[in-house]
Amino acid sequence: MCGIVGYIGESQAAPILLEGLAKLEYRGYDSAGIAVYDGTKINMMKSVGRLKVLNELTHDGETLPGCLGIGHTRWATHGSPTDVNAHPHFNMDESITVVHNGIIENYIKLRRRLESRGYEFVSETDTEVVAHLLDYYYKGNPIEAITKVMHRVEGSYALGILFKQHPDEIFAVRKDSPLIVGHTSDGNILASDVPAVLKYTRTVYFIENEEIVRLSKTNMKFYNVDEEELTKEPTTIEWDVAAAEKGGYEHYMLKEMYEQPKAVRDTISPANPRIKDNKIEIEELNMTDEEIRAIKKLYIIACGSAYHAGVTGKYVLEGLARIPVEVDLASEFRYRDPIYEENTMAIVISQSGETADSLAALRDAKAHNVKVLGIVNVVGSSIAREAESVMYTWAGPEIAVATTKAYSAQLIALYLLAMKFAYVRGQIDDAQLQELIKDLQRLPDQIELLLNNKEKIQRFANRYLASKDVFFIGRGIDYAISLEGSLKLKEISYIHSEAYAAGELKHGTISLIEEGTLVAAVLTQDTLYKKMISNIVEVRTRGAFVLAVTNEGNTEVEKTADYVIYIPQTNSYFTNSLAIIPLQLFGYYVSLGKGCDIDKPRNLAKSVTVE
Ligand code: F6R
Repeated sequence: MCGIVGYIGESQAAPILLEGLAKLEYRGYDSAGIAVYDGTKINMMKSVGRLKVLNELTHDGETLPGCLGIGHTRWATHGSPTDVNAHPHFNMDESITVVHNGIIENYIKLRRRLESRGYEFVSETDTEVVAHLLDYYYKGNPIEAITKVMHRVEGSYALGILFKQHPDEIFAVRKDSPLIVGHTSDGNILASDVPAVLKYTRTVYFIENEEIVRLSKTNMKFYNVDEEELTKEPTTIEWDVAAAEKGGYEHYMLKEMYEQPKAVRDTISPANPRIKDNKIEIEELNMTDEEIRAIKKLYIIACGSAYHAGVTGKYVLEGLARIPVEVDLASEFRYRDPIYEENTMAIVISQSGETADSLAALRDAKAHNVKVLGIVNVVGSSIAREAESVMYTWAGPEIAVATTKAYSAQLIALYLLAMKFAYVRGQIDDAQLQELIKDLQRLPDQIELLLNNKEKIQRFANRYLASKDVFFIGRGIDYAISLEGSLKLKEISYIHSEAYAAGELKHGTISLIEEGTLVAAVLTQDTLYKKMISNIVEVRTRGAFVLAVTNEGNTEVEKTADYVIYIPQTNSYFTNSLAIIPLQLFGYYVSLGKGCDIDKPRNLAKSVTVE
């Protein structure tokens, strides 16, 4: 969701900015722009549409000479996607220009005040107020002007700023939107996220909330909002460049689906393995057995697919460890004034670690003295840094907007937690733990097996390209799988789809079933199997075409469903990790068949840094 880049150094800035923006494309955008300072004038080019257009307009950056500049991909929030609303934005005499990721919440009030002082606005954006406000406060000292603006604006921001009077410097500042900086071989670079800088450096500085950075060709200085200089420690990024590239796959999503066995393996056994001497060891938890035994309730908080992983987590944690779990959408949790009780713990799940609602929920829990565990994929992200403990999912960089491998890794982290808690709390004995560990370790090979069967799913998907509605049904964990299967399909193929707890169909939804409606029924839970068969019969008698996803051996489903996909046998708590694979492939192939933009679906952003 919006991406910013900046470069200052010996090289031409524009090609570096364009390349950096291309690496941030996955975040989602509808327009893009760059501004480059040639020593005399800050030149700007911006355009609606894909980066390709900007590359063409600037002849791959050649028409904007200069060795310092800033760039932006915009995901429209305030003002429609137009050339004028695209960033960067100038002040009136074009001596200051800004790019912005985030939302200035009090921009209407600020705009009115600035207009009453004679400032003229050309765009409908909230960002333009920052350019004019900087102009208002700038009296020769950029850091002073920036801190004054920080005191006036409310909301979230990562800003890249050029001042004409400072031809050898770029400035940046953040609050609640991500920002990193790093050295290149001949200068310095800033960006919203790691993939944009990986080509140049693996050593990055994460800018914290309300920190300002001042970059020159050779120098990097950090300040707080009181204009005091800060010392910061760099972080080394372990991802390699290849992991963030497409590597011969047609789409990032396909590549990432194929990386799921590795993501699962690495999450079970990162550098510091989580299974040691046949026990679950999660050192990052920083909890004694006594503390684990004392937990009375868990809150799981997340958005989108991470929330769906959380719904599975509820079933697994309650089932195995017998700890009550409340699972909430972060956007609801943060405003519902939750009743925090003693001896509880919050688990915030997030791939990006930057999701605004999840971050806000985390802060709320912390403010109420609730311990927060982050299950996070992006190392050093805001949620990872603000949570009291962080359990990383080792899925590697995920570029496709629709998550696959990070989701699969989140499930593993939750299984590990549930197994650990169940054992420590005496809910399972050694023999049961060993059985679970054995099944967990078999998952990567089983996922691979399912992925290798993709042609069967592709053939099936090609028959459903014209569907108007698809329903996913399941009970218990199978309901959680249905939620994710449905989201995968709708977000990338634009086919309307819903997930329902199968027992709930009769209470309204079944009236939507018509002749030929596709219903995907998930039945991996032995205890609920018969109930699901009845639900399949109910929809089939109303004309539905039923795709069933079930465990190997359940062949009698073939009598009831129209098409059956089998998943290998595993522990009933782990079936999500397998059943989701054919559903991800189904979404992918429907989207492919329809010719949709699979990796960058319309209106969506990878990192949702605004609420
Ligand atoms: C769907 C998807 C989103 C994210 C959600 C949370 O495929 O990727 O629903 O799961 O936006 O994002 P993170 O995990 O970064 O907090």
